Amino acid sequence: MKFFVDTAEIDAIAELNELGIVDGVTTNPSLIKKSGRDILEVTKEICALVDGPVSAEVVATEADAMIAEGRKLATIADNIAIKLPLTWDGLKACKALSAEGHMINVTLCFSANQALLAAKAGASFISPFIGRLDDINLDGMQLIADIRQIYDNYGFETEILAASIRTVNHVSEAAKIGADVMTAPPEVIKKLAQHPLTDAGLAQFLKDAEAAGIKIV
Ligand code: G3P
Repeated sequence: MKFFVDTAEIDAIAELNELGIVDGVTTNPSLIKKSGRDILEVTKEICALVDGPVSAEVVATEADAMIAEGRKLATIADNIAIKLPLTWDGLKACKALSAEGHMINVTLCFSANQALLAAKAGASFISPFIGRLDDINLDGMQLIADIRQIYDNYGFETEILAASIRTVNHVSEAAKIGADVMTAPPEVIKKLAQHPLTDAGLAQFLKDAEAAGIKIV
């Protein structure tokens, strides 16, 4: 499973990148707002930092304007994935921009039928939002499973990018289903390393090492 970081915070991306676990980055207008940075500047810095796809989202809502924005975003770096919302106009822009050879991440996906359309329109990634479905008492993980089944049934190569991940369980459940990619905030990715039995076990080992006078270097 590829790990994307869902943030526009340079320091957080750099810290995770040191561990070699960052396969890409996703941003959206809310994350750009949170960073307080100019979208073109911060996206350029992120693209220089990571080798994999960096999703940058358009803000236009009409297809021709989305295409113009997408082309501009794509000039930032070779690893830009143009992020388009799952609307009819977004699908038209997806068709046009993917035909030009750009990577496209179709976002705000909340149904299997939307995911089917995005794949047929040439999306490189489909972003189903798990957490936001869970927020309204629907089953975000079931959507990941439904899309996996449909894409496998027909051999679609669009990668399933599990998004709106809020918990560590979201990550392992999406991995079990076979999502190709997950994108999560840095704090969720760091929590993947935590387990109370690891902490308790280490505390005991350190106590015994001290009692035994163990010194290695
Ligand atoms: O990748 C999409 C993600 O940023 C949305 O997450 O937590 O705002 O629903 P959230």
